[in-house]
Amino acid sequence: MKLIDLPKILDQRGNLSFVEEFSQIPFEIERVYWIYDVPGGERRGGHAYRENQEFIISLSGSFDVVLDNGKERKVFSLNRSYYGVYVPKGVWREMNNFSTNSLALILSSTPYSNADYIYNYEEFLDYLASGGHSEPDKAMQA
Ligand code: TYD
Repeated sequence: MKLIDLPKILDQRGNLSFVEEFSQIPFEIERVYWIYDVPGGERRGGHAYRENQEFIISLSGSFDVVLDNGKERKVFSLNRSYYGVYVPKGVWREMNNFSTNSLALILSSTPYSNADYIYNYEEFLDYLASGGHSEPDKAMQA
C-alpha cells in the first residue's frame, strides 16, 4: 500500500522506465493485464484479493487507486508512467476518476482466479476480523 518510484532513463529520444520482479516490486510476476477504452469518469475494481498482490501503473492518462485496509483509506493519483502503487494481498481496492484514453497496466502475482476475489466490502471486513489476512501490518505500511 505504497507508491513505488521506478527507474527513469532520460534520453532526448524519449524516456524509458522498467519494472523487474523482486527488485522494484516484492513479488514474482505471474500475470499482466491492462485496462483501456474506459469512459471518462468511470470506476472499476471494488474488491479485495485473498492472495493476489498487484502493482498498478498509469501508462497513459490518469486515474485514482483507492486502497483500504479496513482501518484506513488512501487515495493514490496516478498520472505518470514512472511510478506505480503496490497493492498487498488483503486490501480493498477501487479504481476511479479515469480520464478519457487512460491506460492502466497491472502486474499480478497470481494467475487469474475468481475464487481469490472478495467482492463485498462487509465480507472483506469479516475476512480481516476472522484473521484470514496473514499480513495486516504489511498492509498498514505507508
Ligand atoms: P475484474 O477483475 O472483475 O475487473 P474490475 O475489477 O476492473 O471490474 O475483471 C473483469 C472481468 O474480466 C471478469 O469477468 C474476469 C475477467 N478477467 C480475466 O478473465 N482475467 C484477468 O486476468 C482479469 C483481471 C479479469
